[in-house]
Amino acid sequence: MTDQTSRPHVLMMSEITADGKLTLRKGASSKILMKYMSHETELLLHTTRAEYDAIMVGANTIRIDNSFLTVRYVKGKSPLRVIPCSMGDIPLDANVLGPDAPTAIAVCEGAPEERIDALRKKGASVIIAGKTHVELPLLMKILKEQFGVSKLMIEGGPTLNWHMLHDRLVDEIRLIHLPFIVGGSDTPSLVGGMHINSENEMIRLNLKKFYLCGTNLVSEFDVLYTGA
Ligand SMILES: NC(=O)c1ccc[n+]([C@@H]2O[C@H](COP(=O)([O-])OP(=O)(O)OC[C@H]3O[C@@H](n4cnc5c(N)ncnc54)[C@H](OP(=O)(O)O)[C@@H]3O)[C@@H](O)[C@H]2O)c1
Repeated sequence: MTDQTSRPHVLMMSEITADGKLTLRKGASSKILMKYMSHETELLLHTTRAEYDAIMVGANTIRIDNSFLTVRYVKGKSPLRVIPCSMGDIPLDANVLGPDAPTAIAVCEGAPEERIDALRKKGASVIIAGKTHVELPLLMKILKEQFGVSKLMIEGGPTLNWHMLHDRLVDEIRLIHLPFIVGGSDTPSLVGGMHINSENEMIRLNLKKFYLCGTNLVSEFDVLYTGA
């Protein structure tokens, strides 16, 4: 397991349907489902954001959802927004590049110079973390050591969630359960990535808390990383 003193403590937080999906279908924005969260749960999400030093989502979530990732429904400071995007090619008019909060875009060494310049001109910090793709363990180390990030929350999507879990970088998971079934074998679920080959590779969780927040069930787990 990664030495936790060299990286932030990481919480994965997500809204999921009863069948474990994050959106209505592939390519759809999760904002459609988020409309059905109760107000108390929106407050929980934004309170959690305000408690964290940084928030990270994958580049595709920015392309599809165009998220702001700010604290809006409660008083509090918006966290540093961190987007891993190997070539730095998120749209330059993305909300996350707006002035509401600081933003860091993590790219690899192969990212074109002109993209890096354009992101910096928009006010973003650019972190080079990896040769051909963003190496998440290295990014975590840089966030801790150079940006003072002790607590990071990640809000998906499934590709980022899988890579973070696969690299053993997630400590806790908090799920907001939405009482819907959307189906669809290619509809994004909480964790994407590769399938596993044996039960030894299952990532084990310890359920530590569950409660109603407004009308939504919320469950909280510690990630154990026993096995393989
Ligand atoms: N319900 C929810 O809570 C929730 C939350 C968030 C997202 N979503 C949904 O999830 C969907 C998007 O998920 P997604 O799986 O397509 O994409 P994603 O996880 O948001 O982003 C993945 C992308 O991030 C970039 N990336 C760079 N370095 C990476 C690394 N080391 N590990 C992982 N990703 C890295 C890659 O793009 P490059 O190749 O460009 O670098 C990669 O394709 C959307 O439909 C969105 O609405 C739902």
